Amino acid sequence: MSRKIIVFDTTLRDGEQVPGAKLNKRQKIEIAEQLAKLGVDVIEAGFPCSSPEDLKAIQAVSEQVKGPVIAGLARAVQQDIDIAWDAVRNAERPRIHVFLGSSDIHLQKKLRQDRDSALQRAVDAVKYAKKYCEDVEYSTEDASRTDFEYLCRVIDAVIANGATVVNVPDTVGYATPDEFGDLIRRLREGVPALDKVTLSVHCHNDLGLAVANSLSAVRNGAQQVECTINGVGERAGNASLEEIVMAIKTRHAVYQAHTDIKTTEIYRTSRMVSRLMNIPVQPNKAVVGANAFAHSSGIHQDGILKDRTTYEIMKPEDVGIKEHAIVLTARSGRAALRHRLGDLGYEPTPEQFERVYQRFINVADRKKEISSRDLSTIVEIELTKVPETFSFHSLQIMSGNTMTPLASVCLTREGETITDAATGNGPVDAVFNCIERIIGQQGILRDYDLKAVTMGKDALGEAMVRVEIEGSVYSGIGTSPDVIEASGRAYLNAFNRFFANSH
Ligand code: KIV
Ligand code: ZN
Repeated sequence: MSRKIIVFDTTLRDGEQVPGAKLNKRQKIEIAEQLAKLGVDVIEAGFPCSSPEDLKAIQAVSEQVKGPVIAGLARAVQQDIDIAWDAVRNAERPRIHVFLGSSDIHLQKKLRQDRDSALQRAVDAVKYAKKYCEDVEYSTEDASRTDFEYLCRVIDAVIANGATVVNVPDTVGYATPDEFGDLIRRLREGVPALDKVTLSVHCHNDLGLAVANSLSAVRNGAQQVECTINGVGERAGNASLEEIVMAIKTRHAVYQAHTDIKTTEIYRTSRMVSRLMNIPVQPNKAVVGANAFAHSSGIHQDGILKDRTTYEIMKPEDVGIKEHAIVLTARSGRAALRHRLGDLGYEPTPEQFERVYQRFINVADRKKEISSRDLSTIVEIELTKVPETFSFHSLQIMSGNTMTPLASVCLTREGETITDAATGNGPVDAVFNCIERIIGQQGILRDYDLKAVTMGKDALGEAMVRVEIEGSVYSGIGTSPDVIEASGRAYLNAFNRFFANSH
């Protein structure tokens, strides 16, 4: 019989710990709403004691997002637990998630506590959280490097004191699949009380094994997997939600399990998280990468044309990558665009629709056909826009290998058009210099990433930048079939974030 695997998404907590990926309240709500649509069972919305802003964001998610359990993380200290409860108390289904190190390395080097006093602290924390909330998850941080007998004692004790979920993290991504699966099996045998609660796993990807370890745990009896969209997270990241879910679905005979994830929402969620966190998805990333369903060699293309199953184990449509019989071009009217947006699951307001339409026409004028991926990218950019102090209008470039590149950029501010020109070390540099001249603010480019988000020679290019402005780093994103324009839009987007922040 197929077991249900509970999907606990920690994109908004462990995922958000990536430097530069901080989300504001509006962005957290937007992602949480999408996670609910995706069908995750639990959303870990943040670490409430980390900042007053995060507390407010988690409170807003708790109040507005219906369906999944909303969890807030707390160290095993009363003040953290008080704040965690304050964060999630208005959720339809609140959960407090308490954690404490259990390995000797953590106890001796970080907590400077002996095993017995740490065990007592775990018990006290669970009892304290339980006064507020029925649903209490306890995580034995660094479980995979913890002495087995001690781990059993801690788990037994927290269950006896009310923990409803016990999470076994491979905090530093040290475990191997056989070893981790074995640990889960031995825990089930060694701690009979685990039968009364939910057994969860939480794997990190330092050795690239997070998904394999999570799946091995599922085969050995884990009932909940903790994961993130696109595998974002501390260091090398967390186990990727889309990979775990699609492995369980595609290899059902192996795992004899299922999740309640609506897999057709996967691609959209992946794009949204990448865009709002400004973390590009590598092209060869399983399930959601730009090349995940692209067949380039002749032999493979031949096979695919004869029968897709020759080289395809999942259908792109299953993860929400849809192509369509009706091709959108610059001549497609508003009705065709509205129809296609509906098919892709977007419901823009009339004002948002008009913005999307204008951008669609702008791109379609230069690109023969607009694919579903192009359209998703345009929509997501327009719908997640920061308020624009300056808007991009147009640019011209003169460049070549025997001349100094010259850019002329035109921006608008409150209806007024401002044009200027600047040179640079290359065309992109010239555009950046010109933007700085117009807006009267300098930045230091810390990161620059350019990639094609769609297929073909006229692919839509997506630029992502991180710019240091007055001591803080702001990220920006821009798309266009013209990569220099995409870069300029991304650079301006970072400055607009800075202005939005400083007003
Ligand atoms: O990696 C880890 O151990 C964690 C815990 C807080 C669950 O993120
Ligand atoms: Zn973690």
